[in-house]
Amino acid sequence: MRKSNALMAIAGTVLLASLAYALMGMGGGMGPGMMGHGPAGVSVVRHRYVMSHGIDSAYANASNPLYANDANLKAGKAVFEKNCAICHGVAGHGAGPAAKGLNPAASDLTSAMRMPMVSDSYLDWTISEGGVPVQSAMPPFKSVLTKDELWELVLYLRTL
Ligand code: HEC
Repeated sequence: MRKSNALMAIAGTVLLASLAYALMGMGGGMGPGMMGHGPAGVSVVRHRYVMSHGIDSAYANASNPLYANDANLKAGKAVFEKNCAICHGVAGHGAGPAAKGLNPAASDLTSAMRMPMVSDSYLDWTISEGGVPVQSAMPPFKSVLTKDELWELVLYLRTL
């Protein structure tokens, strides 16, 4: 009796896991047959992480307190060029000089920014914690950028 209960529990977990996987595949807005592959150049590893773990609670409710005025966009562009372009490229396509050979590859931010998952809290978490949660080469920026710089940067990313 006990044994079969345990087996049922395992079967249930497997079913749930495959359901979650199927949902993850659809989360990127792609059709069947392309499961797990997002639009070109986005971070599949990170999107999967968020589908199964959510966004870390410290960031889950974050939203940008700044306005997209000229001064903030200009400041955000400068932060991007100084800290991000080396991997993500000046235009954000993911082909910066330090991105060669990275696995997972540096995202094409011009595609990523069009995905519904890429909310302010997603960006706050991604930029602050970098690749630590998903084991990528992206450095964490929480001790590099002030919160204002981070939100100026997010405003600029939304123009890519
Ligand atoms: C050393 C290279 C490197 C640097 C520098 C870097 N990144 Fe990344 N970035 C990556 C890699 C690799 C990935 C894909 C894996 C991942 O999600 O961590 C990534 C992913 C991302 C994503 C996720 C996009 C998606 O597909 O959902 C965002 C957003 C991002 N980076 C923004 C930035 C910003 C903003 C900066 C500058 C503050 C920056 N990155 C600096 C390497 C880098």
